[in-house]
Amino acid sequence: MGDSQEHGDGKGRPDEGRGWPAAAVFDALGAEYERAFAASAAHRESLERLLAGLAPGSRVLDVGSGTGRPTARTLADAGHRVLGVDVSPVMTALAARQVPGAEFRCADIRDLPLPEHEFDAVCVYFSLLQLERDEQCELLGRLARSLRPGGLLAVATVPVDVAGVDAVFMGRPVRVSSFGAEEFTALTARAGVAVEWAHSALFTPDHPAGAPEPHLFVHGRRI
Ligand SMILES: C[S@@+](CC[C@H](N)C(=O)[O-])C[C@H]1O[C@@H](n2cnc3c(N)ncnc32)[C@H](O)[C@@H]1O
Repeated sequence: MGDSQEHGDGKGRPDEGRGWPAAAVFDALGAEYERAFAASAAHRESLERLLAGLAPGSRVLDVGSGTGRPTARTLADAGHRVLGVDVSPVMTALAARQVPGAEFRCADIRDLPLPEHEFDAVCVYFSLLQLERDEQCELLGRLARSLRPGGLLAVATVPVDVAGVDAVFMGRPVRVSSFGAEEFTALTARAGVAVEWAHSALFTPDHPAGAPEPHLFVHGRRI
């Protein structure tokens, strides 16, 4: 996440009560996002760990599925049944084209009913950052409850202690909220999973505006 800035005008303005709309930001970025983050070794390692813990044909929810690559693609290629959910129509359409072996739905995860014990795994790679902090806590709890007992949660975020800060991400205005690494790991545990792996890395997106940013990956198992 980049520098703070004042509000812009026109279609970049925040929507009512929900800050800068994530859909507008990621509709504008599309495949550019995938290119900028494609080289993340920590993301690949997280996916390999997730794959190692899944039984054949597992049902996996990918929250904020983006372009479908690398997450849904890796899981679907390994024979798992993947449902990707993303609020951006452009990202959802791109993912459906790029990963025909998975199912994608365009929806705001905050509005999507999640049945309990539905999934063998849930992954949330960098898709919490445009939610308010209390929404992130509430969502992590709901996602944990959507796992069957023993199911796996893999979450990645940018662990910075900020609430509702206006920033610039890959040249686009975004409103960002997050937590420091310790607090984020603790609230993942409070959501109802036993944390089995937490990994920190620095990553520089391959983008003219790219600067080194901290990434945190937390894996847990539904208690
Ligand atoms: C930073 S991108 C990460 C994409 C993908 N998870 C990855 O790591 O490659 C965040 C994605 O989450 C989506 N997103 C953000 N807020 C969302 C929400 N409330 N509901 C569903 N998707 C959301 C965005 O549209 C975007 O595609």
